[in-house]
Amino acid sequence: MRALLVGSGGREHALAWKLAQAPSLTDLHAAPGSPGIARLAECHPIRAEDPEGLLALAHALDIDLVVVGPEAPLVSGVADVLRPAGIAVFGPSRAAAAIEGSKSFAKDVMAAAGVPAAAQLAVARPPCVVKADGLAAGKGVHVCRSQKELDVGLKAVTALGGGFIVEELLEGPEVSSFAICDGSNAIALVPAQDFKRAYDGGLGPNTGGMGSYAPVPGLGADASEELLELVHRPVLAELQRRGSSFVGLLFAGLMLTSKGPRVLEFNCRFGDPETQSVLPLLEGDLLEALAAAAAGELAGVVLETSLGAAVTVVLAAETYPKGVDRGSAIAGVEEAESEGALVFHAGTALHGDRLVTNGGRILGVTGLGETLAGARAAAYAAADRIAFEGVRRRGDIALDAAEGKTISLHSA
Ligand code: AMP
Ligand code: GLY
Repeated sequence: MRALLVGSGGREHALAWKLAQAPSLTDLHAAPGSPGIARLAECHPIRAEDPEGLLALAHALDIDLVVVGPEAPLVSGVADVLRPAGIAVFGPSRAAAAIEGSKSFAKDVMAAAGVPAAAQLAVARPPCVVKADGLAAGKGVHVCRSQKELDVGLKAVTALGGGFIVEELLEGPEVSSFAICDGSNAIALVPAQDFKRAYDGGLGPNTGGMGSYAPVPGLGADASEELLELVHRPVLAELQRRGSSFVGLLFAGLMLTSKGPRVLEFNCRFGDPETQSVLPLLEGDLLEALAAAAAGELAGVVLETSLGAAVTVVLAAETYPKGVDRGSAIAGVEEAESEGALVFHAGTALHGDRLVTNGGRILGVTGLGETLAGARAAAYAAADRIAFEGVRRRGDIALDAAEGKTISLHSA
């Protein structure tokens, strides 16, 4: 199979790494790709936001399957350009991607499907959560415990200009639950946890994600199947009923409250940096599963999960999430890899043959092990080998889980 991967972040590097191992793969192409992806795939200078360019590329390369990584091109309809032109796509149509692109649409679908979600409030009064309605690259959610925080949150979402919703403020551990979907069938990937805040102890502003791990102790195969029944399958059925079947990766961001799981948000694509921890644990042919989903033929497909564990530590620019760093030399990637870690490029560039920083999140370092403690030690040991000006990371990724703390779906 000839595959074209769209995107350039750490998630796409992890996807490229896994797809490159697929027995059914003959050629792997990427648009635009990254210096990391270029080691696994042929990269083409077409932007993810250029659907016509991607269509021409897919035709020219005789591509059998396009896998779209990021949300922005999906929400703006890249699949609606490719699919009618006869190109198989793993990624939802614009109408189905609205499950991520519009918080109010997601609320409406969940209410119709009977999926437990954070309740929507008519009046903004603390404690509450204020969310911009449209895509906001992680900057649209404000958790407001005080009137002062609410004032700041309301001002921020109003400035984005696209409307907002207000929700009850929930408490409990969070989990990211991924399902590969073909419009009506779903298969679960291993649940993961993401570390969204910038600093240790869950302090500081929200980011795209500072680290991740999988599996989540206490959430085994039974729990992920239960989540599929509770959340993903009803949403798939409701979207199908509305004539916008969801083909792609349906990602539920859940909070496990004392009253049970509640959906905080949906995403219409793989999570970043959860994917960097989830895919290394996947056994079997990911490409075949994604192609089966794109063809509407997922029934009967099984993807086994290994018994091991994976921990991903993000190395970010000093001023991330506010700022980025560009052009600082990066040292030690090969040393980290020689320790057995996987190093996924999130924001890098090549100056000649020199690898330099080029973004907010620069690299993700994934350690693997038989246990979470082993994977965590491997990730940090490898991360220690990497240096660039101002490098910053959290020191507590997967710490609680590695020390044996478990999570349950029902009694947070
Ligand atoms: P979202 O982009 O909707 O996942 O929100 C980003 C983060 O804000 C989540 O990972 C949570 O930590 C927090 N959050 C979102 N909704 C709520 C809620 N209803 N109650 C408490 N925290 C929330
Ligand atoms: N890590 C959360 C996300 O990908 O949205």
